[in-house]
Amino acid sequence: MHPARDIVRPLLRWYRAHQRDLPWRRTTRPYAVWVSEIMLQQTQVATVIPYWKRWMRELPSIKALAAAPEEKVLKLWEGLGYYRRARNLQKGARQIRDESGGRFPTTLGEVLRLPGVGRYTAGAICSIAFNQPTPIVDGNVVRVLTRAYGIDSDPTSKPVNERLWAIAAELVEAAESLPKGEVRNCSDFNQSLMELGAVVCSPTSPACDACPLRLPCVARREGRQHEMPAAKKAAPATARLFEAFVLENKGRFLVRQRPADAVNGGLWEFPSHEPAVEARPECVGDAELRPFCVIKHSITRYRITVRVSRGTVRARRKRGRAEVWLPLPELEKLAFTSAHRKILRRLAGG
Ligand code: ADE
Repeated sequence: MHPARDIVRPLLRWYRAHQRDLPWRRTTRPYAVWVSEIMLQQTQVATVIPYWKRWMRELPSIKALAAAPEEKVLKLWEGLGYYRRARNLQKGARQIRDESGGRFPTTLGEVLRLPGVGRYTAGAICSIAFNQPTPIVDGNVVRVLTRAYGIDSDPTSKPVNERLWAIAAELVEAAESLPKGEVRNCSDFNQSLMELGAVVCSPTSPACDACPLRLPCVARREGRQHEMPAAKKAAPATARLFEAFVLENKGRFLVRQRPADAVNGGLWEFPSHEPAVEARPECVGDAELRPFCVIKHSITRYRITVRVSRGTVRARRKRGRAEVWLPLPELEKLAFTSAHRKILRRLAGG
């Protein structure tokens, strides 16, 4: 484990020299910080800048936001998406007006009571607006901390996530207690974590040579930057059983095109169904069937088994518009789903 100061000191120094000049960094007004953090929850910095400026011009205070017509609030948000955030801001402003005499709350617990404000956002507001040692952990911070500390297990698992929050807390507390501390150490330190994650410690091409943590960083020392943060363990594949039917009549086979809006839309297949969830296709009728082959096909989420039977039918009855009877050479020209392409290969003697 690193002594916290080996992380905190170089990050603070770097941030003070290299931070981006973002408009909300020119203020510590809690209302302005709150608006910026809500906007930044799902939206990139470059997109947020003009929205934040316009919002602060049009609704410069909690009082103005609380009193504004909802249409105005939504109009100012138009294009940012996730409109619930805008409604929550106004709801929060009214809550502050009605319950706290219009004064923005000043403790983490109270800030957490604002709608749409979780642990990260509350920590960001309290550290940036009030310079309190409240930790923050979001995607950027997860990336920085897992790499710096060499944490290679799933950061979304409960114990690892809690460990990251504990590290973030230890670090921001170390920032607060630095000797000769500048006034805004907690604010600057938390923002330095966000900033490093955003501009240096990027997901796929971290600029390690320019990183203030290049010496203490465990991932860099081991050359394992790309292994951290660990990807979430994929859910185990689900087994699914299908039945497919190769129906033949005088050298032609019945195939159908999948609906455009379905999985594998527009691709071709032999009539088939998933017995666990749907009925046997009508076109099979009372054809006399014999087992033909079993196809195994695995994709990311499913382990698919297709039990294929084959039979000759007396008449070519057409059921759906998407069904056609074609000779083998014509089938070869169609785009089949991967599993059914394997059936076709068997049929062609491959
Ligand atoms: N992302 C979340 N909060 C931020 C902030 N205050 N500055 C830059 N990026 C951020």
